[in-house]
Amino acid sequence: MKESSSSKRDFLKKGLTLSLGLPLVGSGILSCTTGEKQAAPLRILILGGTSFLGPHQVAYAVSRGHKVSIFTRGKTVPTVNTEAFDHVERLIGDRQDNLTALENREWDVVIDNSGRAADWTRRTAELLREKAGLYIYISSTGVYYPHLEADVNEDTKVLLQDPVNAEGEAPERDSFGVMKAKSEVEAIKAFGKDRTAIVRPTYMLGPADRTDRFMYWPLRLARGGDIFVPGKADDPVQYVDVRDIADWCIRLAENKTAGTFNAAGPENAQGVLEFAQKGTEAFDVTSNIVLVEDYDFLQEQRVSFIIPWIMPKDDYYASARVQNSRAIGAGLTFRELKTTIKDTYDWWNSEAVDPERKTKYEQNTRTVLAREAEILEAWKVTRE
Ligand SMILES: NC(=O)c1ccc[n+]([C@@H]2O[C@H](COP(=O)([O-])OP(=O)(O)OC[C@H]3O[C@@H](n4cnc5c(N)ncnc54)[C@H](OP(=O)(O)O)[C@@H]3O)[C@@H](O)[C@H]2O)c1
Repeated sequence: MKESSSSKRDFLKKGLTLSLGLPLVGSGILSCTTGEKQAAPLRILILGGTSFLGPHQVAYAVSRGHKVSIFTRGKTVPTVNTEAFDHVERLIGDRQDNLTALENREWDVVIDNSGRAADWTRRTAELLREKAGLYIYISSTGVYYPHLEADVNEDTKVLLQDPVNAEGEAPERDSFGVMKAKSEVEAIKAFGKDRTAIVRPTYMLGPADRTDRFMYWPLRLARGGDIFVPGKADDPVQYVDVRDIADWCIRLAENKTAGTFNAAGPENAQGVLEFAQKGTEAFDVTSNIVLVEDYDFLQEQRVSFIIPWIMPKDDYYASARVQNSRAIGAGLTFRELKTTIKDTYDWWNSEAVDPERKTKYEQNTRTVLAREAEILEAWKVTRE
């Protein structure tokens, strides 16, 4: 117990870069490339770790010399960076009802990826508050839903309760955004503001994504030719490479950075046209972007989003207009879009992706990928 308090104090004394420090300096991230001394090894517990974000965090943390433990039910098998898991301690349990494997243990940092209920976060944060120095909670820009206001920053008030329906009834379960917002509160309640980092990513893209919602872009851009791009040229898009979030989480851990951060890229505001143009740089093929700006037409064609583009209307008006300066100030960096797109394409065509999943998506006649030619033809007709 004594040792735990003093290591926690050391941790706090060394750290407390509260949000806007100069996190790259001394973080050790430079050491990867310059051969300088690495950051001191940390004991990092990842709640989760085996699906999308987790394997990238694991790989980066292991490459930095940290000691990583993961806590899962043992159901989800990592599909990328699998060799890094040879260096990882695997703890089995269930956030719903079995935290025994986390009892009587100590870590420097906890990263909570697998939060699916505020109560889960309350229980792990309460259990670990004297046993770990920093709690990094992976939240989401979904906390700002409904996205009615542009340029929201981390001080913007978020909903902690879902609105009641027309009959005056509250929903049975918290909506995603409310669940994340309440979980943030639970983490801070247990660890305190000075020992909690809240990371709110926007849509994460990259290898190991379990959703297919971004795949239109790499698959379509790789083929070249006339490429259907939905939306008005300046419709904002926000996205972030999952590896940028992963690496940054580990740097937050190394720097003991506390605070709340909107983890949204790209660095500067981007419209969907620029997004598509930059995307074409991923492949050495000739492409011609066909921008379809008519929202009514798009709605008739049942195209209201192709992530990261979401028709910026109503509750989604500002979903891609979130301020990101605080995260950038705290060291979040961004890979080039062409790298994300090319790597996602290569991953999709590698053994890491189940052939059944690939076929199911690529042969699904309801996707925009499958309907693209038909949509472009209909668009041509409306213009004649
Ligand atoms: N994808 C996006 O674009 C996006 C955007 C914003 C925020 N986020 C947030 O990012 C976070 C990271 O998600 P991820 O799936 O990539 O993380 P991950 O850590 O790679 O995977 C999720 C982990 O949760 C574990 N898990 C699930 N149910 C569990 C339970 N009852 N008890 C213990 N462990 C359990 C899974 O393993 P087992 O199945 O083996 O238990 C798996 O390892 C999430 O909180 C998500 O809401 C995602």
